[in-house]
Amino acid sequence: MKKTFMAHVTVFSSLAMGAVLAISHGAANAADAQKGKAAYVKHGCWQCHGFVGQGGIAGPKLAPEPIPLPAMSAFVRNSRGPMPPYMEAVLPNDDLADIHAYLQSIPKAADYKSIPLLNPK
Ligand code: HEC
Repeated sequence: MKKTFMAHVTVFSSLAMGAVLAISHGAANAADAQKGKAAYVKHGCWQCHGFVGQGGIAGPKLAPEPIPLPAMSAFVRNSRGPMPPYMEAVLPNDDLADIHAYLQSIPKAADYKSIPLLNPK
């Protein structure tokens, strides 16, 4: 009796795991870094944040390791500070998700300790 119960639990949890994997996989596929790069340029984010989100005179650094998409979306839609807000009619949610994927795809700079020229003996 106990054994069958455990078997059911195992089957159920692997099904649940599968569903979670399927959902996160779908989300990862939906946002496209390549399209995001184009959207980042088209919407002019680069003018203040730099072409690879490195930050500029007007805007702070956005990449690598951008803030999570929900936080980014909340900021971009509702900014009341020096950055103009971007309404959905101007910057669709899909473009914003792609921009986030682009910023996420930007690699971190190498650790200076791994660069021989910066570590003279
Ligand atoms: C006119 C210059 C300008 C443009 C264009 C611009 N930004 Fe910004 N952005 C800023 C400034 C300035 C801040 C800091 C604002 C603040 O702290 O209130 C900022 C902040 C942000 C932040 C918050 C960063 C953080 O760590 O809190 C995000 C995310 C962001 N911008 C994304 C974007 C995206 C995406 C675009 C293009 C759709 C864009 N910005 C276009 C000037 C700009």
